[in-house]
Parts: sequence; structure tokens; C-alpha cells
Amino acid sequence: MLGFFVFGDIINPMIEFPRGFLWGAAGSAYQVEGGNSNSDWWHWEKACKGMALSRDACRHYQLFGEDFSLARELGHNAHRLSIEWARIQPEPGEFNQLEIGHYIKVIERLKELGIEPVVTLHHFTNPLWFSRLGGWENPKAPGYFLDYAQKIVAALSKNVRYWVTINEPMVYAYYSYLRGDWPPQKRSPVATAEVAGNLTRAHIRCYRLIHRVYKDSGLAAPMVSIAQHMIAFTACSKTWRNNLAVYLRNRLFNFRLITKLAESGSLDYIGLNYYTRNLVDTRNWSAGELLSNTCGKGHDILDKNYLGWEIYPQGLYDLLAGLKKYGLPVFILENGICTSDDRQRWDYIRGHLLKMREAMDAGTKVIGYLYWSLLDNFEWDKGFGPRFGLCEVDYSDFKRTPRESAKKLAQVALTGKMENER
Ligand code: BGC
Repeated sequence: MLGFFVFGDIINPMIEFPRGFLWGAAGSAYQVEGGNSNSDWWHWEKACKGMALSRDACRHYQLFGEDFSLARELGHNAHRLSIEWARIQPEPGEFNQLEIGHYIKVIERLKELGIEPVVTLHHFTNPLWFSRLGGWENPKAPGYFLDYAQKIVAALSKNVRYWVTINEPMVYAYYSYLRGDWPPQKRSPVATAEVAGNLTRAHIRCYRLIHRVYKDSGLAAPMVSIAQHMIAFTACSKTWRNNLAVYLRNRLFNFRLITKLAESGSLDYIGLNYYTRNLVDTRNWSAGELLSNTCGKGHDILDKNYLGWEIYPQGLYDLLAGLKKYGLPVFILENGICTSDDRQRWDYIRGHLLKMREAMDAGTKVIGYLYWSLLDNFEWDKGFGPRFGLCEVDYSDFKRTPRESAKKLAQVALTGKMENER
């Protein structure tokens, strides 16, 4: 192996990634397609005074072909997208064949370009009718979801191997039902628990459904998971109380659902979304302090993204190390930064890839890395200000321009190698 000595250590000038590793970017329908007027979020954003409107988003619904060609030019061999449920099922029991046909074309285009599709069935938004029937609090919610999933899986199975049933169930339950920031803006621990339970049941049933469809059609077994958002919880000072808070948050937010799903045999891989760390500094023993308060003292020293999230690549290493015990392959389904400084974006990506490689060397099997996101896009209640894209989007004419960071990541994806030293 190539290497040179620095103070007695062998440093490899290049780090390498395995052949066949999946490289690409991730996105979700509502954030890029535009015009999702039948989704609950669309009505909610209009009803909230001053809320960002998604409007045409990135016009990806029309421009998907060009976007995928761009991804190919950037060396991507995988792409994660979601299906907008409200397009497929505008009313209960009514399925829109034209929209199903649209997504068949979307997937075919990826396949023509040699890009592996990774398909998410639920990414935060719901059909309006589903929300009016009580959304994910309704005990019938998993059943409704399964009807829709069945149609999509049947239509796309021929060309799709990787499925994500539900994106970030814990984040969705937390923001929509506990913090009340997102629709339907509830603040109820009871509703949060019900929603989390229904999302879990929906995943397990959907996992079985997808496997059944593949088996019945004689297709090779699919790879099915969820996308689990994980945060690197870090105690500001190592007090008993802070350490307990970190332990509880790790258990409840990061690992509980994965453990449950792994035990139920409904994960073929672990889908991981990782962005940042949270500093934990509790003031008392109340549940709120232990479970959700984050340090506001501003004594941390790390760089931050445009939204103030700390950049902490070590967290990716720690979480990947923590996932090793499940013995399942891990697929990084989201990792990214919103910033107006593209050099910071490349530093972020590079730092996380180095830590990912370290975790792989320490024994966690990682099968792919998807950057969030291919394009600048609609960042939910934060609107279009945060720029996460490998490609800049000019919202006045929807022109896409790849950034330097995109080209640097392309080099890694195309060669499977990255310089160890800057
Ligand atoms: C979500 C995305 C979101 C991204 C950046 C993830 O948690 O899945 O929809 O845009 O974070 O905030």
C-alpha cells in the first residue's frame, strides 16, 4: 500500500472507498417538485400568516430529466427521491394513473442514466383528505398508507431495489405533534405517542408488503428501511444530570426505533440521516430539561451552518460506531449543509467522508453516501433561504449551476478516492 512516514505513523496520501459504493444526493418531492396543491402542507403554508410558500419549488416535476442528467455528470450512481402521496391518491379510494405514470417515467429516466433509485414513500407531507380524517393520529392511518404504498410498489418494483418507507418518523412526530411547529401544529405528548406508534406499525406492515410484492413477482429481494434522523447529543459538562440527559436522548430519539424495527425483522439496512450535534446542558431534573433543552450559552466553538447548526463530523463516526451492533449495512441517506460559502460546504462533506471511512475501518459496513441535496430547495418552514444544494438554483428562471463542492464530490464518486491531506 502506498504510504509515507510522518513522525513514525504511516499516512496514506489517498483514502479509498469500496467498489460499487453508492454515491449521490437525496431530495423529497414536496421540496423540489412544485405545485403540490393537494398536500396538507400546501394548505397549511397558505393558512399561516407570513409562512414561506413552496409555489413552484424547483420545478423538478417538469425538469427531472435535466436534473438527473446533471446528477450523472456529477458522477452520481444513486439518487433518493420521494413520491408525493397526494398526487397519487387525490381522494380516498381514487388513484391517479397519470401521476403513477409520471413516477414510472421518473424512475425509468434514472435507470437509463445508470443511477440507482432510492424511493421514499412518505416524506413529511400527506394528502389533504388524509389529514382531514385525523392524519397519523387516526388508528386507520397505517391502512390508508398501505393502500397507496401497494399501488406504488406494484408500479415501480421492476426498477427499484432500495425503498425508504417513512422519512424520519421521530422528527415528523416531534415537529408536528409535540413542538407544534409543522402541520397539524399539535402540542400533545399523547398524540405524539399515538403518531409514533402508527408510523412504526405503518413501516412494519409496509416492509412486509414490499417483500411480498417482490416475492410474488419473482423479483430479487428488495432492500427496505426507514430514514432515521440521528443527532450527536453531547454534554456541555460531564455532570450526572447532563450525562443522564444524553443517555436518554440517545435511547429515545436515536436508537429506540431502530432497535424495535431490527427486532421485528423489518430492516434490510439502516437508513441514516445525520447533520449536527446538540449540546446538552440541563438546569434541573424536569422532563423538559432532560429530554429536549439544548444549551443556549453560546460557549461552543464549532463552525455553524446558515441555520446555526454546529458542524461536527465526529458525530457521524460515533453514530456509525453505535450502529455496528445491529449487524446491518448502513446507508447514509442524508448528510448536508446549508451555507452561502461553498468552501464551507466542501469542508463539511470532506470532513464527514473522512469520518465515515474511519467508521468503516472500525467495522461498520456502509454501503452508500447521499448528500442532501442535489439542488437548493424548499426548506419547509424556513423557506428558500437555506441553500443546501450541490447545485445552485436561481429561482427567477430555475437555472441550475453546479457548485465547486459538487465537482469535488464528483471526483470522489468517479474515482472512489479522496486526498487524505488538504
Ligand atoms: C429532512 C429534509 C430536510 C433536511 C434539512 C432532514 O431532516 O429529511 O426534508 O430538508 O433535514 O433540514
